This record gives sequence, C-alpha cells and structure tokens, in this order.
Amino acid sequence: MKKNCIITGATDGIGKQTALDLAKLGYCIGLVGRDEQKGTLVLDEIERATGNQSLQFFKTDLSNIKSLESLSNELKEKYDSLDILINNAGAYFSEYIQTEAGLEMTFALNHLNYFRLTHLLMDIIKIDQPGRVINVASSAHFSARLDINDIQMSKGYKGWTAYCNSKLMNILFTYEIHKRFKETGITFNALHPGFVDTRFGDNNTGLGKNILSIGKRLIAINVVKGASTNVYLASSDEVKNMSGKYFDKSRSVRSSKVSHSEIYQEKLWSYSEDILNNL
Ligand SMILES: NC(=O)c1ccc[n+]([C@@H]2O[C@H](COP(=O)([O-])OP(=O)(O)OC[C@H]3O[C@@H](n4cnc5c(N)ncnc54)[C@H](OP(=O)(O)O)[C@@H]3O)[C@@H](O)[C@H]2O)c1
Repeated sequence: MKKNCIITGATDGIGKQTALDLAKLGYCIGLVGRDEQKGTLVLDEIERATGNQSLQFFKTDLSNIKSLESLSNELKEKYDSLDILINNAGAYFSEYIQTEAGLEMTFALNHLNYFRLTHLLMDIIKIDQPGRVINVASSAHFSARLDINDIQMSKGYKGWTAYCNSKLMNILFTYEIHKRFKETGITFNALHPGFVDTRFGDNNTGLGKNILSIGKRLIAINVVKGASTNVYLASSDEVKNMSGKYFDKSRSVRSSKVSHSEIYQEKLWSYSEDILNNL
C-alpha cells in the first residue's frame, strides 16, 4: 500500500529534493509551501521526473500559525491517515521581523509551526505501522544561546543566534514529544541535513547573506546528499522503532548538552502551549 507523507517547505532546497526522492519510491506526497506558482511548477517537475501521480500541493504561509488549522483540515480531507510528517520549512532572518500575530518570525516559522502542525495532525498519524515524525533541525543548535525566560529574544535580537536557538527548539521539542507520546508507537526524530547548497539565507541582505553564499560555494554538500537523512528516516526499516534521537549523516548521534535538559524541554513545551492558547 502507498505511504502518505507530508513535507513542509517542499518547493525548494532539501524539502523539494526529499519530495523527489520519496516520489521515486512511490510515496503519496502532500507538498506544503507558501507560493502557489512555485508549488505547481515543482509538482509538474517531480511528476515528469518520477511518473508519480500521487502528489498534491497545499498552499500555506507556515509562519502564520493561525492558518495551520485550515491547512490541517485540508490535509485531513485528502488523507485519512499519515505515515510520515516531515517538518522541514525553516529560514534564517538576519533582521528582527514580527508575524501578523506579533510573534518573532524565526520562532514562529522554525519552531511553533513544527509544534502546532504536529499536534494538529497527530490524530491521523498512524499508530499501528507506526507513523514517523521527522523534524529538520541543524548542527547550528550547538551554537544556541537560548534564554529560556526570553525565548523570542525580545531583548537584543541577533538573527544567527535566533536561528541557532530555533534549531535547538526543534530538538527540545522532538525529545519532549517522544517522552509524551512514546506509547503511541509513533517515532519522533530530529536531524541535521549537513551544510547544504540551497537557497537558505538568500532572503537576507548584507553580511549574513554574503557569508552564507561564500560558504555554500566553498564547502556545502549538494542537495541530494542534503536530503539523504530525511529520506533515510522516512523510508528505512532500520529506524522503524527508533525514536527520540538526533541524526546526522543517517546515524544517531549525540546532540548538545542543553538539548537534553528536561527543564528546557518542559518549559519550551508549556510556553508554546500558552502562546497557542492566547493566539
Ligand atoms: N541548507 C543548509 O545548509 C541547512 C543546514 C541545516 C539545517 N537546514 C534546515 O533545512 C531546512 C530546509 O532548508 P533549505 O536549506 O532547504 O532552505 P531553502 O532552500 O530556503 O528552502 C526552504 C523551504 O521552506 C519554504 N518556506 C520558507 N518560509 C516559508 C513559509 N513562511 N511558509 C511556507 N514555506 C516556507 C521555502 O519556500 P519558498 O520556495 O517559497 O522560498 C522552501 O520551500 C530548514 O529547516 C533549515 O533550517 C538547512
């Protein structure tokens, strides 16, 4: 039977390549992105390259947390059950930006979007197979400087630190949801895709963008390699019973010390819930 998979941020970079690779394996894929035109082009491209006709594009700005409820309703109309959810959409914002709901943009897109969408879809993620939730984090989390009492960096925003913090949050969230839902059999894992040559960072101007561009030209891996840990976690039997882990190069490795702090995991969870209750 075909496996149902949702990938966020599937119109470019690692998410798009993951969609292409899983389409080759015959998965039925919901590609989520914010740009309808780009989504249609990507869908056509993947369909032509793979012959897979079981692909659909869903348009949502994932930083708009309120809109995730209608996205989840649309997804549930299409899919009775989900085998895989890949929370992948993410970005780095060198300047402070607020979403319509007054949230700091990096926090909203990179963390709260993963947190909210996973919760909204939990009731259709398969518990018998079991389903897999994959959170694309980053080794940048090792450089996080998260003030757990000022999670959205209201004092002295620094774009790169906000990004590193958000990637730490991806791992804190993965470990906490694993603890809370492990009896379901659903697996929850986080990963670092490598330093990958994508459009990551291109939304910025100035030094932040230039440093990343030079780095990408000199040392980044290509997007096929960059998608490989996603594809491994989504499709390999080797990891079907592994949960609450952090992967790099398709291997479970140790994440930073602070990512294992149960106090941070619980505080981030309740802070995220409080925000959602007041949105
Ligand atoms: N590249 C790296 O070296 C690297 C390293 C470690 C971790 N990561 C992580 O890998 C993930 C994917 O990054 P990437 O390198 O593939 O970046 P990318 O090439 O910029 O792709 C990001 C994807 O997310 C989508 N997206 C961005 N903002 C969105 C929003 N508000 N609503 C809906 N979709 C949105 C983009 O849509 P558009 O096509 O409309 O722009 C695109 O499809 C991120 O979580 C990033 O933190 C990347």
